[in-house]
Amino acid sequence: MREIQRDLTQAQKLELVGLLAGGIAHDFNNLLAIVLGHTGLLLNEPLSARQLKRVEAIHHAGERATGLTRRLLLFSRRDVRQPHVFDLNALIVDLMKMLRRLIREDIDLVTRLSGEPAKIMADPGQIEQVIINLAINARDAMAGAGVVTIETAVVDGAGGPGDPDTPGARSVVLTISDSGPGMTEDVKAHLFEAFFTTKAPGEGTGLGLVTAQGIIRQSGGEITCESELGRGATFTISLPQPVDEVAPMADPWVYSDLPRGTETILLVEDDGDVREIAGEILTQQGYRVLSARGGDAALQLLERHPGPIHLMLTDVVMPDMSGRKLAEQACGLRTEMQVVYISGHTDDVVLHAGVLGFLRKPFTPLGLARKVRETLDLR
Ligand SMILES: Nc1ncnc2c1ncn2[C@@H]1O[C@H](COP(=O)(O)OP(=O)(O)OP(=O)(O)O)[C@@H](O)[C@H]1O
Ligand SMILES: [Mg+2]
Repeated sequence: MREIQRDLTQAQKLELVGLLAGGIAHDFNNLLAIVLGHTGLLLNEPLSARQLKRVEAIHHAGERATGLTRRLLLFSRRDVRQPHVFDLNALIVDLMKMLRRLIREDIDLVTRLSGEPAKIMADPGQIEQVIINLAINARDAMAGAGVVTIETAVVDGAGGPGDPDTPGARSVVLTISDSGPGMTEDVKAHLFEAFFTTKAPGEGTGLGLVTAQGIIRQSGGEITCESELGRGATFTISLPQPVDEVAPMADPWVYSDLPRGTETILLVEDDGDVREIAGEILTQQGYRVLSARGGDAALQLLERHPGPIHLMLTDVVMPDMSGRKLAEQACGLRTEMQVVYISGHTDDVVLHAGVLGFLRKPFTPLGLARKVRETLDLR
């Protein structure tokens, strides 16, 4: 009975968070797209050292807010996953600079990465989020100096819990361990529960590990914890290794060398500020940009514009017409045109079938420029 009662409140809590998150996500992602877009461009412009520091701080805050929105969205199950095959080792190497900044100076951050590529199939952004949370948890657990070790290994056997042991199956094991105080049995028992935290109000939400578990399970893996009081804690994540080839990893922190082009792009977005920053990024990369604030205006433009329009970049949720409906009509008018949807929600775009071009909101200049180039090159 107790058990059922606890589960119920747990489910209710989750539903509440989901409702709240879903409600604000759309607006929030638009705002973040504006922040990250402008700071991303500024970081490419000549700045004094002092100005650079300030812009980096704003950009970093925007990235953290993005992580927070994603974390909340995961609960409302509206988060947009973009899974692909990548090398976890490369991701960890990229992440080190940020991790070093996040954990204190008196904590040693050690990596021991497998010699062979640690290929996994997952959403890199989500995996980053998992690693960051585990590293921050370790930092918070240690009062003074200590060591956090991030290790990867490629081992035989399937990664997930219920996976049948297919012959030849391999998996990637990621362990993050710390030399902190460890946990009591009581803490260990509640570790993966939503809102379970031993941190002071305002310092922890208790969503980190339950989110991590959700992410890892979505990718067919499992996360476990071993810890004894006084002996630190070790979190072990195991993920099945896909058989596909490794796709090149996107580096979210490099803003130089954005891909360019000269094609004509129609940008449809109802939020004026988002439209402006997206337009500015694309113009800067050499594209000719036409913009419309909604479906009707876009259709008029498509009919009247004399030259070719190579790609339409459209928001999904707009007051006068959905992006999907617009695309249906637009492709009737311009059969050559490619379409990329921009959205922060999955259920906006019935993403499951046939939607090739999809850009997650909030986008960065790099994300936008890459997606546009990639889609145009598909033709
Ligand atoms: N490495 C660790 N050593 C000791 N205790 C830990 C460790 N990692 C997690 N914990 C315990 O588990 C609790 C839950 O962790 P979780 O990441 O889910 O939430 P949080 O860190 O408290 O808050 P949030 O991650 O949402 O900001 C922590 O409050 C802490 O008590
Ligand atoms: Mg945490």
